[in-house]
Amino acid sequence: MSKADIVVGIQWGDEGKGKVVDKLCENYDFVCRSAGGHNAGHTIWVNGIRYALHLMPSGVLHPRCINVIGNGVVVSPEVLIAEMAQFENLKGRLYISDRAHLNLAHHSLIDIAKEKLKGDKAIGTTGKGIGPSYADKINRVGHRVGELLEPERLCENLFKDFEENKILFSILEIDIPEYESLLKDLKRFSEILSPYITDTTRMLWKALDEDKRILLEGAQGSMLDIDHGTYPYVTSSNTISAGALTGLGLNPKEIGEVIGIVKAYTTRVGNGAFPTEDKGEYGEKIAQIGKEIGVSTGRKRRCGWYDAVAVKYTARLNGLDSLSLMKLDVLDGFEKVKICRAYEYKGEEITYIPSDLENAKPIYEEMDGWDKVFGIRDYDLLPENAKKYIKRLEELSGVKVKYISTSPERDDTIVL
Ligand code: IMP
Repeated sequence: MSKADIVVGIQWGDEGKGKVVDKLCENYDFVCRSAGGHNAGHTIWVNGIRYALHLMPSGVLHPRCINVIGNGVVVSPEVLIAEMAQFENLKGRLYISDRAHLNLAHHSLIDIAKEKLKGDKAIGTTGKGIGPSYADKINRVGHRVGELLEPERLCENLFKDFEENKILFSILEIDIPEYESLLKDLKRFSEILSPYITDTTRMLWKALDEDKRILLEGAQGSMLDIDHGTYPYVTSSNTISAGALTGLGLNPKEIGEVIGIVKAYTTRVGNGAFPTEDKGEYGEKIAQIGKEIGVSTGRKRRCGWYDAVAVKYTARLNGLDSLSLMKLDVLDGFEKVKICRAYEYKGEEITYIPSDLENAKPIYEEMDGWDKVFGIRDYDLLPENAKKYIKRLEELSGVKVKYISTSPERDDTIVL
């Protein structure tokens, strides 16, 4: 029996998981999403063409791969259908769990309205209705993808919910949808998506029994995990490797390698603690060179130095076997580069993540920068200072670097 491997983001998201998963796909039969929804955004460059994926697993760009959207994902049928339209022949290459929860238009309206009410305490969500969909799931009032097979019944049930939540809708100044228009949408979703809906857990069990190779593609980053991230400034799912198991129905014994994706610096979108944020010249320079703009929302990402304390924490949470270091080329030409090796917290020096991370101040060490790693595909050709930087990151996180990305292109990757 084979085992499933996991690729997981170990900072605050946007680490470049898409490129790694895309590169690895050629070795896998199945690529699966296990959590989150269309708040995720993966950018993949192939032969100069940019693909932005939100709900679709990255294996879709490889004709041999079967793509699975697992039970832990919240699925917007509208977004998925639009994304599916970019690809031909998805029949037999895409499966959606009947147990995944639906993310519908009203979830997004509730998300946006609640954020507005929070004012300067807003989380800075993507506004895609992720929190409200998961809240329905946890409150046991959600609706699952399998219900799309009977759109009339689903519509009736949704209207019962709307009736129960009339007061909330009115406080948030959200219009309840028109029955006929919602029914029309649900029928369209049903017609298009029904052939893809199945029990994906059983499918994956069978695949493992038949020695097929499975890759689990994480969404968001570990520091945005609902339990272990910088709560409440987090997303609404378990983004760490453990979430990939519940989100697909696999057990811990079925997991093989866990690869952590990390950028050579740190970024974060939305509000919340970010100890190494640089609001000055360097943060701006990283943002410019790294084109740090959100794929899903177009928002500018906050940028700063590599936080080795956070990476050490998420390396343990995820049980990492190796690191994939992304966007090293963005630091090309910096005279000095900084690494946060510890925090100053309540008068002490610490190397763990306190639950009130906003009160921690970074303690940096500085290293000499390098001229250029852009496009290098051979480790031996890297400048010595870049090698020293990589080595230091390995020492501080306690995990070996296995892949180094030196440009957005699929093949500009060093494999160690
Ligand atoms: P939500 O997931 O839309 O509820 O947003 C909650 C927090 O997670 C916000 O800070 C978002 O910016 C952040 N977030 C959600 N998805 C992503 C992602 O794919 N990349 C980076 N940040 C994300």
